[in-house]
Order: sequence, then structure tokens, then C-alpha cells
Amino acid sequence: MNGSTGWDHGVGRHLLGIEGMGRGDLERILEVTDRFAEIGRRPIPKVPALRGRTVALVFFEDSTRTRLSFETAARRLSADTLTFTAGSSSLSKGESLRDTVEVIRSYGADVLVIRHGMAGTPHRVAQWTDAAVVNAGDGCHEHPTQALLDAYTLREHRGALDGMSIAIVGDILHSRVARSGVLAFSLLGAEVTLVAPTTLLPPSLEGWPVRVSHDLDDIIDSLDACYMLRMQRERHDDGLIPSLREYTADYGLSARRAERLPKDALILHPGPTNPGVEIAAEVAAAERSVILDQVANGVSVRMAVLFLLLGSVPDPDDVAEAN
Ligand code: CP
Repeated sequence: MNGSTGWDHGVGRHLLGIEGMGRGDLERILEVTDRFAEIGRRPIPKVPALRGRTVALVFFEDSTRTRLSFETAARRLSADTLTFTAGSSSLSKGESLRDTVEVIRSYGADVLVIRHGMAGTPHRVAQWTDAAVVNAGDGCHEHPTQALLDAYTLREHRGALDGMSIAIVGDILHSRVARSGVLAFSLLGAEVTLVAPTTLLPPSLEGWPVRVSHDLDDIIDSLDACYMLRMQRERHDDGLIPSLREYTADYGLSARRAERLPKDALILHPGPTNPGVEIAAEVAAAERSVILDQVANGVSVRMAVLFLLLGSVPDPDDVAEAN
């Protein structure tokens, strides 16, 4: 718990990163997620828990999964939603980030779900506003709700992450998913190995609770889960890899390489995939791939996060019973 990072739900504030959270914080969110997953399986998957509250989706970068799942989560909780997308806003007329935030807050937003290309933006916004702030991905820094939905998916299939051997493979350097995932998986007891060429690793991994390998073939037959990362070409300078073809040959999860995974090993990817680059299309669609489970679990996890930040009753069904 910390006032500027992580989950300071104790004072009803923000979710800015996995950094600063403890195992108990993660387990609490995953337990509450179980409740919302159950609600999601009902014929009418909706509870009035956040009726009268407003969730603002403030996206300065493109998104399909995160934005739509937060929107679905808010609606299943009966909250109102406001959506801001940079491309159709007054940013083009010189509106500042602070102005944008103040405008959205003045429309009654109780929580700002923010994605921005610059690391630290949600933390900055949290200093300006009395609304709750959720980091929906800030530059190459963190993507905490992705890590939560990934941990939930692993736990759903395995019961617990304790002792699991998880490889996170690919473009670690640019990956907020990797940073949040490493912290969450290791807090929950998994052993994490980063697999990448040196050029796609951060210059220093001091303090990261990980092992490092440059050879996926060396470790693939001992993994419980293989988490493939999207090659983030939009964030690349030239020269980080010799060529995409060589990268795929060395680090891509081809059908042939995937055959070397243990029989019950899981395959994950945060999406969107680059089929044929970091993962073959048939591997992404294989039975052991849990990519669509990750997508579906994103709604339940985000319901839990919104509820824990904004809910004033201990149980979402209490409101239903009171009405
Ligand atoms: N995984 C993820 O953040 O996907 P989107 O960019 O589609 O939100």
C-alpha cells in the first residue's frame, strides 16, 4: 500500500500499478473477481452495485480489450460511462491534459480509467483530481489490470500460482504488460523467467524478481505457462532486432516449438497478437491457449476493481436484495 503507486484502496483511492501492492491486495481482488465471474454467468449479468456512479474511460492511446472490458464492467455494475478518445477531442486545438481531466471530472466522473503513451501519466492525474484513477496502461511502465486478469486466468486453470514456472517471452523492453506481470506473478509465488534478446530487455533488471534466458528452446520443456508478448513495432527504433524473420525463428511460438511444451502447459498472450510473428495463428487458437479466457476474465477483474474503488456496500448482491 502506498499513497502514490499501487493499490491504496484502504483510503478509497487509486489503482496505479502492481508496484506497491502486497500479495494480500492481489488475493483480495482475485477473490472479489470470483464473485463477479459468478454474476457474469447469470442470465442477466447485471447488479445495481454502482448505480448513480460514473466511470470515465479516458484513452489517449488505442485499445480494444481494455476499453471495451472496462465499459462492459461498468455497465454490468449499473454505472454510467463517459468515453474520451484523443483522436476526436479538443487536444487538436491545444487542450492540455489537465484541462481534459478537469472537464471530465466536472461531468461527474467518479473514476478515471486512463491509458496514455507517457509513463506516469495516471500518477500525475491522481495528484490533480479527487476522483479515483485506474491505470489502463501508461507507456512502457505498467498495466495493472492486465496482470490481474492474467493472474486470475492462471489461477482459474491451476488453482494457484505458487511454484509455477512462467516464461514471459519477447519484447520486454517496451512491455508494460511484462512489468506488471512479473510483479504480480512473483508476488503470488510463481518463478518468472524473461526470455528475449538483450536488445529487447531493459538496460537494468536490478530488483526484478526474475531469471533471464536468451534461448526459449533451452527452457520450453520445463514451463507451466508460456506468456508471449506482442512485438510492439510502433514503439521500436530501428536496429533492435536483425529482422522480424530472424526474431520469429528464435523467439516465436511456432506450432513445432509449442509441441515441446509440457502437455498441460498454458499459452497466454495479452492481445492483440501479430499472427506469424511472436505466435503462430494455430498456436493462438490451440486448446491449451487461454487467450480468450484472458479476454473474458478482463470483464470480471475490472468489475472487481471498480467495485472495490467505488462500492459502498460489502457485497454486490446486497444492493440487489435491498431493491
Ligand atoms: N491487452 C490490451 O491491453 O489490449 P488492448 O490494447 O486492446 O486494450
